[in-house]
Amino acid sequence: MDRPLVAGWQCVVCGASVDIAQPFTWRCPNATETDRRHAMQLVQGVAPLLSTGEPNPFLAFRRYLAWDGFVAAHGLTPASRHAMVAELDTLVASVAGTGFVTTPFERADSLSEALGFGADGGVWVKDETHNVAGSHKARHLFTILLHLRAAEQLGLARWATRPPLAIASCGNAALAAATLAAAVSWPIRVFVPVGANPAVVARLHSLDAHVVECPRLPADPPGDPCVHRFREAVAQGAVPFSVQGPENAWCLDGGRTIGWEIALQAGEQISDEVSRRPLDRLFVQVGGGAFAASVAAGYRMSGATPSLHAVQTEACAPLLRAWDRSSSLGGAGQAAAHWSECMWPWEHVGNSAADGILDDETYDWLPVLGAMAESHGSPVVVSEAHVLQANDLGCRTTGIDASHTGTAGLAGLLAVRDEVRADERVAVIFSGIRR
Ligand SMILES: Cc1ncc(COP(=O)(O)O)c(C=O)c1O
Ligand SMILES: [Zn+2]
Repeated sequence: MDRPLVAGWQCVVCGASVDIAQPFTWRCPNATETDRRHAMQLVQGVAPLLSTGEPNPFLAFRRYLAWDGFVAAHGLTPASRHAMVAELDTLVASVAGTGFVTTPFERADSLSEALGFGADGGVWVKDETHNVAGSHKARHLFTILLHLRAAEQLGLARWATRPPLAIASCGNAALAAATLAAAVSWPIRVFVPVGANPAVVARLHSLDAHVVECPRLPADPPGDPCVHRFREAVAQGAVPFSVQGPENAWCLDGGRTIGWEIALQAGEQISDEVSRRPLDRLFVQVGGGAFAASVAAGYRMSGATPSLHAVQTEACAPLLRAWDRSSSLGGAGQAAAHWSECMWPWEHVGNSAADGILDDETYDWLPVLGAMAESHGSPVVVSEAHVLQANDLGCRTTGIDASHTGTAGLAGLLAVRDEVRADERVAVIFSGIRR
């Protein structure tokens, strides 16, 4: 029963395969300094999705993690794999004030009523605001850190001094990364835009992160200058401690824990003999796309697939453009062959209160597109009015103090409420505590 499930990685763009035993397989072997248009996907066996019942999802679902397959391939016993997760979690808790625990998932009764849902339907909210560093982001990064620690312990890391971690972010991902790095005293460089939120920058400093401000340089190609500086650091040996699949596919491993949690929580709370799927729809706010890709990949392992709606704002909506483009190029099944025709940086990124999802490229667009097509979902682009209304209504009715980014999934539901029946069961994820 404790056999790990994951055998390796395969790139859906070029077909390259990587065995799970190989360390530091952050990117597709065919990705280059200038071309990251590759998408590694896990190759894994099929098994019923079961939790051990432990509160920590990395323990409860350990055997489904690629990380577990990696260390098992190097001969570590289930007991020592369990201990490694528990030890790292204790270190994280000493900095973050909490370790990883299964987060709440409940029907939001007054929100459901306010939106006109009936007793059979409604809105269920997964509350990630009290997770490590105040959002779901640390879930993605924890499997990268587990990988690094295991590689050191197994003698696979040949460095005399630890290479720094690197991340391009000025929000929840940066805070999560700096928190995890501080837990193991690993040096980290955080590449932030000019004018980053001073409260976030102050917290990064207090976690001993090296913060690098990144103005656009005259010679910069299109795209986010923080990402350019991040890639330069990685080219010089830094570890991509990134929540973007093309930069570090291992972030897609731990991100699935939230999908596993929701699938089991929904299954326990909602029984439906007729459709055999507890949830009808899932609205997920999308920036770089790793979050929605991971939620969908995790949830799918339960055997059910609610329709996935990826939510972006009018200020920056490259995913809808890719969805439309790909449908005229053979659909989601052919999209991997048409990357450059479907996904490129959004030319004029506007402003939005949901500033955490203004990534000019949806880096993980391929798995998000695939999950939407497979589940008969669709992208939803919301107005700023819906972003503001969702935050006001969502926080007021649930008492959860989430940021506008964190409630942007609900804005997607508001935008298409007329198309949703009153007996449908819809889930959203509130992530990112208001700062
Ligand atoms: C609270 C919150 N929700 C969702 C997202 C979107 O995640 P992703 O960039 O992986 O699509 C972010 C990213 O910054 C976030 O901070
Ligand atoms: Zn590839």
